[in-house]
Amino acid sequence: MTRVSLPKRAEGHDRPPAIISPSILSSDFARLADECKRMVDLGADWLHVDVMDGHFVPNLTLGAPVVASLRKHTDAFIDCHLMVTNPELWVKDFAKAGADMYTFHLEAAAGPSPDDWHNLAPDSAHQAVVDMCHGVKAAGMHVGLALRPATPVELVVPYIEQGLVDMVLIMTVEPGFGGQSFMADKAAKAAVLRRRFPDLAIQVDGGLAPSTIDRAAAAGANVIVAGSAIFGATDPGAVMRQLRESVTTAATSGKAPH
Ligand code: DX5
Ligand code: ZN
Repeated sequence: MTRVSLPKRAEGHDRPPAIISPSILSSDFARLADECKRMVDLGADWLHVDVMDGHFVPNLTLGAPVVASLRKHTDAFIDCHLMVTNPELWVKDFAKAGADMYTFHLEAAAGPSPDDWHNLAPDSAHQAVVDMCHGVKAAGMHVGLALRPATPVELVVPYIEQGLVDMVLIMTVEPGFGGQSFMADKAAKAAVLRRRFPDLAIQVDGGLAPSTIDRAAAAGANVIVAGSAIFGATDPGAVMRQLRESVTTAATSGKAPH
């Protein structure tokens, strides 16, 4: 059983409610608990935890022990983004640490090489990815499936259709670092999914800010990750409100996701 359920789509909305998930990658790690409390007090719905292994991406961050420490200080939904080569290795540790969502990369689950996603087909499910989804669910976490900017969005469809996935994460920067520029053309991948799956949680991550959110909102995203734009703001609460408002406006606009 998952600790907290995901919010459902309301009547008259084309997607589930907006969820704002500040990325702690841009926080002061020495004051992590205080930084997270501040964000939740200012309106954050989730806390986005970027886990990097120095192999899947050229950067190192943190692992399950930090999540376990953070869990002692907050009840907030902990949204973990695993940018690691062997995501199956850490499922149990993150579940035990108190993570709510375990989002792993489709490319990593498909095999050990960064190019293994080329072996995946849009019309059939790959057993290793299916096994990962079952493993995460059995461990009591929500299942997130992430896509690098170059990976075709159609490849996640078999897993959504089989009900294996709670959220799809569409990367709008190359994973590895905060503070990069938003790739607007990648946000359009969300529209392909939103037109088919109105109840699916669709997360966008990378370069989201008040100046870029409208594009992601128009495409149908509802879970918004932002690191530098929130932690770097003099008024993070105002930034989070702007992000939320853009998503809610798009969700009730009556315009097809594009
Ligand atoms: C990048 C991470 C992101 C990052 C976002 O690999 O997955 O979550 O922290 O940072 P900004 O919002 O600064 O692009
Ligand atoms: Zn992330």
